[in-house]
Order: sequence, then C-alpha cells, then structure tokens
Amino acid sequence: MNDDRLHMVRALVLAERGRGGTSPNPMVGAVIVDREGVVIGRGAHRYAGGPHAEILALGEAGERARGSVLYCTLEPCSHTGRTGPCAPRIIEAGILRAVIAVEDPNPLVAGRGLALLRAHGIEVALGVLREEAQQLNRPFFTVMRRRRPFVTMKVALSGDLRIAAAPGVRTHLTGPAADRLVHLERSEVDAIAVGSGTVVADDPLLTPRVAYRARPLTRVVFDSRLRTPPSAQLLSTLESGPVIIVTTPATVTEAPARVRALVQAGALVEIVEEPDRLAAALARLAARGVTSLVVEGGTTLHRAFWDAGLIDRVQMIFTPHVLGAGGVEWLPFSLLATPAPYSVTARPVGADILVEVYVHGPD
Ligand SMILES: NC(=O)c1ccc[n+]([C@@H]2O[C@H](COP(=O)([O-])OP(=O)(O)OC[C@H]3O[C@@H](n4cnc5c(N)ncnc54)[C@H](OP(=O)(O)O)[C@@H]3O)[C@@H](O)[C@H]2O)c1
Repeated sequence: MNDDRLHMVRALVLAERGRGGTSPNPMVGAVIVDREGVVIGRGAHRYAGGPHAEILALGEAGERARGSVLYCTLEPCSHTGRTGPCAPRIIEAGILRAVIAVEDPNPLVAGRGLALLRAHGIEVALGVLREEAQQLNRPFFTVMRRRRPFVTMKVALSGDLRIAAAPGVRTHLTGPAADRLVHLERSEVDAIAVGSGTVVADDPLLTPRVAYRARPLTRVVFDSRLRTPPSAQLLSTLESGPVIIVTTPATVTEAPARVRALVQAGALVEIVEEPDRLAAALARLAARGVTSLVVEGGTTLHRAFWDAGLIDRVQMIFTPHVLGAGGVEWLPFSLLATPAPYSVTARPVGADILVEVYVHGPD
C-alpha cells in the first residue's frame, strides 16, 4: 500500500469516531503528515455543529503543519455553515499538498473547496480511496444526490422463510445477539419505519434500547387509512423521538377526528399524495433532516418500497425457528437477485445469520 492510501486509511478509521453522531453531516476524518512521514495531527468530526476534522487536525499539528500534507476523507468546505469554512484555514496553515478521497456532493461546496486550495498553490490529489469514503457516508451521499434518505429494508426470517407465525400474531424470531445488533443500529440511524399492519398486529415500541443513543430517533408509520390507535405504545415513547404518521389527503378529509386524536396523542401527521407517495414521503423526511431510514416491515410495506426502487440496502436475519405453513411469507428471494446486487455479505450473529445486500454502488 502506498503512503497516500495508508494515511487515507488512517483518516477513514478516524472518521468512524463520528458514527451515529454527525447526521445530517457526514463522518469525516483528517490526518496531517510532515515531510518525514510522521503523523502530526489527527481529527474527526464527531457531531453536527461540532468542529470539523481538518480544523482539529490543524490544531493538533500547530505550527508544524506548515509544509505538511493533509489527508482528508471529504473535500474541505468553502462555505460558512454552523462552523467557519475549512479551506481558508488550510491555506493559512501553510499546507503544501492535500490528498482528498472524494468531492463534497453538497451543492454549497461541490468542488469549490478544492478550487480554492488549488488557487492558493496547494497541490491537490483527489480520489484516493474514493469508493471507501463514499461507502462510509452512504446516507449523506444519498441525501445530497437523490434528495431522500438512504433506505435499509430489514427483516427477521424463520428457517422456513416466514416473518410471523400467523397474520396478526406478534412473533419474536431473533436471538439475543441479533437483538443487540438491531438496537445498535437503531442507535445510529436517523429514523425507522413500519407499516400500519405491523402497528396493528404488534403494537411495537420502536425505541432504541440496550445501546446508548444521544439524539432523538424518528419513528415513521406508513398509515394511509390512519389505523394507528392513539393508544398505540409508540405514542407513549415520544421522549425517544418524534412519531410521524404518513397518510393521504383523502383520509384527512374523510376522518378529521382520527387526525385530531393522533395529533393530540403527540403524532406529527404528514399528508402525501398519490402517485409516488413513498417517494414524496421520503423527500419530506429528508427535508426534516432524516438521512437514513430503516424500514422494519411488514411484507406489504417492504414490497411497496422494493417495487418503487427505493431500497438501497437489505438486511436479512435468518433465524433457526420453523413457523410452518400458517406463517406469514416475506418477499420472494428471486426479486432481490435482480438486478445483480453491488455486494452481498453474510456473518453469524449468535445463533442467527445476518445477510447484508447493497442493492447498488455508492452514489
Ligand atoms: N419478522 C420481521 O422482521 C417483521 C418485521 C415487521 C413486521 N413483521 C410482521 O409483519 C406483519 C405485518 O405485515 P403486513 O404486510 O400485514 O403489514 P405492514 O407491511 O406492516 O403494513 C402494511 C400496510 O401499510 C399501509 N401502507 C401505507 N402506505 C403504504 C404504501 N405506500 N404501500 C403499501 N402499504 C402502505 C397499508 O395500509 P393502509 O392502506 O391502511 O395504509 C398496508 O396495508 C405482522 O405480522 C408483523 O408481525 C415482521
């Protein structure tokens, strides 16, 4: 591995420190290396509004930054957001060369940061571990490029590929290790969603448990007919984050009392129109700062998301239970194999197996 790639790996590892904390910002890592190849500054963007990775790395390097090389997993910003722009600080610090993994897709930056560095005589090498850097920030790139959150379709399956023992029967399939994994993921994503069928059948809490979560978790119910009862457990967990109920204009006109009761119980009601109501709902969620969404089920909602081409990643947890012929079936696997996915990985999680499919490459 050449030195540029090695130092970029270091910057990518640093960026991971922000996992679960930076949304709607990306995770970013930066490393400063002096002429002798010694790492003299390190930084990671840890939370939205917090200092940027490059600034922290420059701070650690101090005067020694002059004449050094900066490695950064994302193009330094040139605009003033919640913090000042980074590119002018890099120029002032006397950095000689900047190695950047990928351009910032944010239209406010989009090459301007790189142009500024070059205009001040800094040599810029772009594209070192580009794909890895994009993969690290899939939600950020998806929101910037598709104007919707990065969507994961998650399901727990029995050995005979069913998701519940019978229609309307709450069925817990995963073992303790997989449960921990699910809650760890809930501690990192911006929002989780279920269909109204799951709320009626399971009355789930949809809260992050086990793993610590510093910020609210948005819960979304796709519920055209407003079947969610105001007494749903979900609405007693508003301290964990907002509950958004997505419905249609027709239901709001036909059943205003149901809307009022849900709003009184603390729900936020989003009204989206046909056609493409899922895409419209996702655009609304993105506008609310949701960059990642896990669609937890059930089958009807999964199928609708899949058919609309709105799934970026599939997580299937295969469990050893057998539910028999009366069990509720999931989507046919033939569906997931077309077109060929970008990547498929499998790993054991306790007694269960997690299969993760990235439907397409990074945006
Ligand atoms: N094993 C697992 O991982 C897992 C996870 C979750 C759920 N489940 C199980 O799944 C079962 C429920 O599945 P389900 O298929 O009956 O219900 P579901 O997928 O949870 O909800 C389906 C309902 O969502 C509503 N909906 C709102 N917007 C929609 C849209 N754009 N497209 C499609 N539907 C939309 C529709 O009802 P309206 O027309 O009234 O809006 C539809 O009937 C339960 O037994 C639950 O236990 C299993």
